[in-house]
Amino acid sequence: MSARYAVFGQPIAHSLSPRIHAMFAAAFGIALDYRAIEASLDAFAGALDAFAADGGAGANVTLPLKREAARLCAVVTDRARRADSVNTLIREGDAWRGDSTEGIGFLRDLRDRHRFEPRGARALLLGAGGAARAVAFALVEAGAALTIANRTRERAASLGDATHAQVVDWNALAESGAFDLVVHATAAGHGDALITVPSSLVASNAVAYDLSYGAAAAPFLAWAQNAGARAIDGLGMLVEQAAESFSIWHGRTPETDRVYAALRASR
Ligand code: ATR
Repeated sequence: MSARYAVFGQPIAHSLSPRIHAMFAAAFGIALDYRAIEASLDAFAGALDAFAADGGAGANVTLPLKREAARLCAVVTDRARRADSVNTLIREGDAWRGDSTEGIGFLRDLRDRHRFEPRGARALLLGAGGAARAVAFALVEAGAALTIANRTRERAASLGDATHAQVVDWNALAESGAFDLVVHATAAGHGDALITVPSSLVASNAVAYDLSYGAAAAPFLAWAQNAGARAIDGLGMLVEQAAESFSIWHGRTPETDRVYAALRASR
């Protein structure tokens, strides 16, 4: 039975992960079986068992399953435990080990591709869900001065406690000053809702980064450009977090620029 890999989520049909992993594998001459598997929250545990029985050696996990994935693992890495989110599963014996590659993927894209150094930067994180948690720890560890705002203040407060970041009220953002980096990590762009935040948040030469890409990122990126920020979507983060998963599974570190350029060109 050859090793199988997959990405689980719902919806999953438009996931770019199978394409990204196929390009990484091709560069190393690795024959890879990586497919997208649709699973609801209720069906996920069963689908993952079936996948393991079928030779599943590793998987990525996306919305809305990242928290449930953490629950289904026998062990998780420190960075996954802190984020309470698993996006990478590794089969070890008859159990899963869980990891979170989003924080490192975000930092690599921000620093190496977009040449923004978070050390010493005033950074604002909008949102406090799974993806936001991973990014919050990554930013604090990278030396940013982090402020967190979330629609539901209690979630921001608990993430602020865990990361030793400052917390501000969503409704008080207009009095919060200006930031060198504004990261949008809410799910608002995935539905019909639009977030409204003041353009005074954007310092001169600021970067505004949306963890999403495509249509979900469009409203925030439009706001950012309007406010005078350099606007960046999450496509590069997607490629970098995939590269980290790939290197965990296959012991080879993929070159990401070519893959990023190919995806960008086809969008
Ligand atoms: P994920 O794992 O993708 O981050 P999540 O845990 O459901 O998903 O978190 C979604 C985030 O988007 C939360 O920060 C949520 O705010 P609440 O904690 O108040 O629910 C935020 N969010 C979703 N819709 C929003 C909206 N219309 N305006 C502002 N924030 C929104």
